[in-house]
Amino acid sequence: MDNAPNLTPVLGRYFERTWSHGEGHRLYDTDGKAYLDFANGIAVTALGHGHPRVNAAIHAQVDRLLGPISAVGYTEPVSRLATELAATLPDPLDSVFFLNSGAEAIDGALKLVRRVTGRPGIIAFRGGFHGRTFGATSVTTSNVNYRTGYEPLVPGVYIAPYPAAYPAFGGDEEAASAACLAALRSLFDAVIAPSEVAAMLIEPVLGEGGYNPAPATFLRGLRELCDEHGILLIIDEVQTGLGRTGRMWAFEHAGIVPDVVCVAKAIANGLPLSAIVSSRDLQERWGRSAHGSTYGGNPVACAAGLAVLETIREDRLVENAAERGRELVAGIGRIAAEDERIGDIRGPGLMVGVELVRNRETSEPDGALADRLMAASADAGLLVLLCGREHQVVRWIPPLNVTAAEIAEAVEIFGESLASLPAD
Ligand SMILES: Cc1ncc(COP(=O)(O)O)c(C=O)c1O
Repeated sequence: MDNAPNLTPVLGRYFERTWSHGEGHRLYDTDGKAYLDFANGIAVTALGHGHPRVNAAIHAQVDRLLGPISAVGYTEPVSRLATELAATLPDPLDSVFFLNSGAEAIDGALKLVRRVTGRPGIIAFRGGFHGRTFGATSVTTSNVNYRTGYEPLVPGVYIAPYPAAYPAFGGDEEAASAACLAALRSLFDAVIAPSEVAAMLIEPVLGEGGYNPAPATFLRGLRELCDEHGILLIIDEVQTGLGRTGRMWAFEHAGIVPDVVCVAKAIANGLPLSAIVSSRDLQERWGRSAHGSTYGGNPVACAAGLAVLETIREDRLVENAAERGRELVAGIGRIAAEDERIGDIRGPGLMVGVELVRNRETSEPDGALADRLMAASADAGLLVLLCGREHQVVRWIPPLNVTAAEIAEAVEIFGESLASLPAD
């Protein structure tokens, strides 16, 4: 705090260090100490720091044209990124609305579905995090602190249980899926008629909420329910998107096609950029000037986005995320075999959550231990973050181009850090 006396105390920070610069997968503090960065600004610098191709694209675009804003006309990198992004998504997801942040994409998507369907209701899922604007806050339930003091929030939001298999279902994905689909049907029977619901909004893997993947059966069931009742399905890929889970888009694991996809974070490797993607038909029905943004989709961020997509494709980073993710889970599994304080390890890809517990039998979360472990790992030169309502989950977000050697190095630091902490 002393190193930034005039910065707001409101913003929560994982570390009190001051960062000087980044090179590849290392972040350096102002004392010159290097850290293996498996946090990446919470899944933002997914290609690491100072990526040559991305930085060259940014420099070139800065010199060519910073503006104009989208409302004034078209610029080549913006139009081209829309085409390239659409090409990564299945039909009919071919229309891209650029904004600046994840929360803005969620807010815009909520407006889209209400206007297009003429229905008020939004169903979101317990434990979800979708951002800090009023709309995004209204669908966020990963921690009550994000909502406290802000009521009344946007009305018409209904919260259903998220199918987190651990700990509530002892890791049984099918049981979690069946129970949560039943809860949705009961919501329709007792609380809101499906004909009043514009959309369901879900993270395919809970991010802030604890790195819990939604079982494929559940997402398929959600798709069927939406089709049955004319409800639109919004998938929040802000944290999971662009290869993070070992597929380009996390919804691909379930073999479904959403109606709306929200994208942000990794898309421009650190510059502010987000997108709402849907079919052309939906955005035409949304209507001209129904939404807008001064800065959304600026050419510099879009030039970075093009370099990011090209790098992911040419360097086969989706495949790398899947392979390195398996190594990471296996490495942590070897630590868990020796240490009862690890209750669960879950993927997919390079979005790995490690849940710390007081006791494997009870699965009682141990946020205090996770906190000490994050600090000890950082002291030993590895940056990992926490998530989950009690901050009991160590979340691993390595860069997509991480190497096997770096995974091994990180696992070793993590294991030694955990071993250094006495059980209480
Ligand atoms: C899944 C998800 N959705 C939305 C957001 C909000 O994004 P932003 O902070 O860019 O507004 C986040 C941020 O962590 C997120 O993880």
